[in-house]
Parts: sequence; structure tokens; C-alpha cells
Amino acid sequence: VKKYYKDYVRPFIRVGPHGYFWMAGFGDHAGDIYNLEVRPDDIWVVSFSRSGTTWLQELVWLIANNLDYEGAATTPLTKRYAFIEYPTQTSEIRKEQPPSVNSNHRATFDDFRNLHNLTSPRFVKTHLPLSLLPPKLLDTAKVLYIARDPRDVAVSFHFMHKLFRYFDEGVTFEEFWDLFKKDLLLHLPIFPHIEEAWAKRDHKNMMFLFYEEMQKNLQSVIDKVSKFFGKDYTTEQKEKLAEYLSFENMKKSSGFKFGKSENKDSEITFMRKGKSGNWINYFNTDKMKKEAEEYFEKHMKNTDLRFPEIN
Ligand code: A3P
Repeated sequence: VKKYYKDYVRPFIRVGPHGYFWMAGFGDHAGDIYNLEVRPDDIWVVSFSRSGTTWLQELVWLIANNLDYEGAATTPLTKRYAFIEYPTQTSEIRKEQPPSVNSNHRATFDDFRNLHNLTSPRFVKTHLPLSLLPPKLLDTAKVLYIARDPRDVAVSFHFMHKLFRYFDEGVTFEEFWDLFKKDLLLHLPIFPHIEEAWAKRDHKNMMFLFYEEMQKNLQSVIDKVSKFFGKDYTTEQKEKLAEYLSFENMKKSSGFKFGKSENKDSEITFMRKGKSGNWINYFNTDKMKKEAEEYFEKHMKNTDLRFPEIN
């Protein structure tokens, strides 16, 4: 791990019941997050990184806000949601980071500190697993969780590590996968993260969704989420929303800026491919393909979690 992660991301800690891998500074704030006051009208979008969080955030925000496209166009998602994945780092470490990464992290630090000042309803985004969030969260507020096939997440996470300059650009996917399968990367392990939410999928305040489901049938997800918020939109309104949420449209309109680290001609972009099952093209040796299969099977053996078929 030391060989790959840049100095300004380290050191790390393992936290929670499944030993989640987090930046060490998180330890200073884990208790504050756990004890956060949740409001009954809060709306939380929870996920493992690179699982379609941004996509779901936009869908949720528009549905909950009476399809306010103007508001969505004028205020970036990063300002419409408080992001409490961090505060993970000390100011000392943040000083050393590349400016684009630093400002991203600082924003999340400020989001966390300002949470109690926000007017209701608050929209909150987090990559923390349920076990590290306030225990009364689900009994108090609405939670929408999005899961994605961990093999697609691994590929997307690889490019994110370069985009955020956690890793050098030269690190291959094979090297990255070797760390991923051993849970030696930020936020891992992924299966327990998903399973914690899956176990609560029937709770009245939980809407558990799959990235693959949004790919296959966005309309039905729009229907489900509308119902969850007690909204009744016309077919025409829902079709317009699906169009708005298309990968192409969101790629154009997404306000994410990563300065020099974003390379539009490569896959080092935030809105990268937007596909399901594409992992197969990156596990390009027989050994990797076999490992991917074994990794997936091993984790699916003792759970009733099932990802939607994609074809
Ligand atoms: P890829 O890297 O596979 O393209 P998150 O928001 O949790 O970080 O997830 C990012 C992933 O969701 C990226 O996956 C991104 O392209 C994809 N994504 C974002 N908006 C999307 C959309 N409108 N349609 C499909 N995929 C989308």
C-alpha cells in the first residue's frame, strides 16, 4: 500500500465491524459522525464510491424538489448535498495535496462542520457504511443506497485513484486489482458495505437500488423513488427526467472539476464510461479473469444478495 498511495493520503486506519480502510484522520471525527443529529426530513444517499452515487443524487434531488431543473442547472450537486465522507485529514496533510484534490477534500470537511447549519430538508451524501453512521439514521430519515457490481467498481475506482492523484498514472489495473481483491484500498471491503444496507432493504425508510437496475430500466427506478417520496409525476415528466439523467447529458452538465488531473482524452474523468459489465475488458489476462470469477463467487456464496442480470 505504501508503495502506491501518495504520502498525502496516508496514513490509514481500519474502522468499524468489518475493518473498513479509511484515512487516519477519520479516527478524530468518527465519533462526531456517529453521534450526528439526524433530522426526520433528512435525505441521505449512501454508497460505496463509484457505484453511481452522483447519478442517484441527481435523480433523488430532482424528484424530491418537484423537478426543479433550473435549480439543478444553477447549483452544482456538490452544493446541493453535504458530503460527509471526510473529514479524514489533518490540515497538515491537506496542505501538501495537489490543489484540485485539496479543494475537494476541504469542501467535504466544511460540509461536515456546517451540516447542523443547513436548512431542512438536508440532502446528505456519504460513502461511509451504515455501521459508521448514526445508529438511528434509518429509523429517523430516508436513506437511498446504491450498489454496483464490485468488479465494475474496481475498474472505475482505479481511474478515480488517478483522477484524485492518490496513485500515479502509471499504475496498471493489474496492480490495482491485486490490492482491491485483498481489501487493501480506501473504503474496502466492499461486500460488507453493500450487505449492511442489503440487510435493511425492507426497512420502510430504506430504498435499496442497483446501478445495473438504473441502467436497465431507469423509468422503473424513477417510479420507485417517486413513490418513496410520495410524488406523482406524469409519464411525460418522468420521460423528461430519464432523458435529463442520461449519461451523455449528465457528462455535459456535471459540475465536477478536477483541474489538471482530469484528462478528457483518457479514462481519467469523473463521468468515465457509464456502463455495466464493462469490467471484463480490463481483466485481460486469464489469471485475472479467473481471479475475478473466484472473488465474486466467494463473496456471493454466503449471501442472498443478487446483482441484476445485465443482458
Ligand atoms: P464509470 O467510471 O464506470 O463510468 P460515483 O458517482 O459513485 O462516483 O460513480 C461514478 C460512476 O457512475 C462512473 O462510472 C460514472 O461514469 C457513472 N455515472 C455517473 N452518472 C451516470 C449516468 N448518468 N449514467 C450512467 N452512469 C453514470
